[in-house]
Order: sequence, then C-alpha cells, then structure tokens
Amino acid sequence: MLVQTLPQTDRSCVVQISAPAKINLFLEILGKRPDGFHELATVMTTVSLFDGLRFCPNDSGEIKLKVQFPDVGRSVGAIPEYGIPIDKRNLIVASLIRLRETFGQPAMGMEIVLDKRIPAAAGLGGASSDAAAAIVAGDLAWGLKMTSEQRHLIASAIGSDVPFFLYGGTALCTGRGEQVMSVSATAGMAMVIAKPVCGLSTPTVFEQCVVPGVPADVDVFLDVVARGRPEAIAQQLHNRLQPVAESMEEEVKRLAKAFEQTECLGHQMSGSGTSYFGVFADSEAAGMAADQLGKRNPDWDVFRVKSLGRNAVTAA
Ligand code: C5P
Repeated sequence: MLVQTLPQTDRSCVVQISAPAKINLFLEILGKRPDGFHELATVMTTVSLFDGLRFCPNDSGEIKLKVQFPDVGRSVGAIPEYGIPIDKRNLIVASLIRLRETFGQPAMGMEIVLDKRIPAAAGLGGASSDAAAAIVAGDLAWGLKMTSEQRHLIASAIGSDVPFFLYGGTALCTGRGEQVMSVSATAGMAMVIAKPVCGLSTPTVFEQCVVPGVPADVDVFLDVVARGRPEAIAQQLHNRLQPVAESMEEEVKRLAKAFEQTECLGHQMSGSGTSYFGVFADSEAAGMAADQLGKRNPDWDVFRVKSLGRNAVTAA
C-alpha cells in the first residue's frame, strides 16, 4: 500500500492510502485444521490495481464509511449479494472498531471515503487490503503508536489475508495465510487480470476442495521467484482451488481458454476466484492481450497491472 499522511493537529492526521489488490502466484492446501480453516502455503504478490481510501479522524465516536465507484466497472459492486456493506460487516469498519476497543477512547471517530476499484468476490483480496489500510490509518490518524506486532495481531483477527497487506510486495504466507514471510522478487512483472461478472464465495470454494495426497512444493516455486524470470515463474504457477472453482462456475473455464489465446507466458485463477490472470513478457504484450480480452469479452472487467514492491509511507 502507498500511505500518505497530512498532519491535522499535534496528535492526529488525515491519512490517504492506495490499497492494492493481490494475486496468488502459488496456492497449495496442506491440510484441514480443527478450527475449520485450511493450512496453506501460498505465494502472493501485490499488483497495481488500487482502492483509494481517505481517513479523517474526529471526536464524534462514530465510524462512518462512504463508498464510491469512480470507474463504473461491471463487476465492482454490481452483484447485489456481493455488494459493499458500510456497517461493521465491512472489514474497514470492523478493523477500526477493534483498534478503538483495544487501544483507544470510545470518543474516537473516523470518516472514511472508499473509492472502490478492486472487484469484490474476486480472489483479489480487496476487502483484506482495505482492512490492512484501516489498521495502518487508524494507528496513524488517531496517534496510537502501535508496534508492528500489534498491527499484525489485529490484522490476523480480522482475516487470513489481512496481515500480508501490511507488508505488500511478494510473500510466502502459511498457516491460515496469516504468517507472512516477505521474499525478494523483482517488481514490475507485467500481468493482465480479468474478472467475469459472476463471483464465488471463498468459504464455499474451500469447503469443496480436497487436500492433495502429495502437495506441490512451494520451495521449488520460491527458487523460481528468486531467479526473477517471468517466463519461468509463469510456467510454475499453481492454484489448488482452481479445479474446484471450475467445477462450480463454467466461466472460469472460459477465462482459461481466453488467456490461452493470448501471448501470455502462463495463466491461472487468483485465490478462490473468479478473477483470472496471465503473466506477460512485457507491458506491451500485456496491453495487447488486455485489448483482445476486453474486446472479445465485453462483459468482463480487464485490468493491465504490474507486480509491486513492498509498502511505502510518505508525508505530504
Ligand atoms: O480468513 P477469512 O475470513 O478471509 O476466510 C474466509 C473463509 O475462507 C473462512 O471462513 C474459511 O471458510 C475459508 N478459509 C479456509 N482456510 C484458510 C483461509 C480461508 O478454509 N486458510
């Protein structure tokens, strides 16, 4: 995420954040846990598709969220059952309530404006990224001076993918996904993401998946990532949830076929779907493929993106 602070008083500041989407380059299921979650080994990377968030602190004791859709995409907020809630079901509000309960005073309030661009129910981590942004913003805007361990603890209580977004870049995530180990990777890998109108529910996809007898080896994948050649990374992409998602939603198969017809070096579904991505040799090849995919599939949202480095904080 890109964080910008604008000082307001001695203790508080307005915080603006660009919260990125993620894709899963590698996702393996290692087991089913007694708590109902699945033990994972996943390699995620943040990409240049951003929600915009502005946090203004006040003393009203109220946390008020307004959601705007600046680029009227088809899949963003277009599906009623995946509409963006503005109450505590929204992870931004849930995160700020939890921060205030843990560290703050009940009078602490916040007005948040969310410019929603990352499609929901897409496997792109939009809600988790927004939640991580809220934790960072609440800490800075309310002057809580949290340690990175405290931020991490709150993030993992909010959702499995939330801690990853506190760091960004490329990381190996294990456990439920909440144990994050940053890995060095070359930023700027050219990719195209396509999101069909239909979405898939993460719990339903996980419920249907079967733990493999022989899991794919994440260490082999990490070696390939460390060498930084997009064509090699693209050939080793892996997502254990994809066959399940394909059996639940025909559109995922259609996405695979459509990417096959582009110049991509490799392609797969992200997370629990339904969004799908391809890796390209350079941004020109990605641009051509994005045009082709968009023209042939006018009902999809198509985004040309690059992989990002780790998070950055700047003062305005
Ligand atoms: O942690 P989060 O709320 O994002 O997870 C959403 C759902 O996805 C969980 O309720 C669970 O059904 C499923 N899940 C899982 N194993 C994981 C992560 C998520 O089964 N490691």
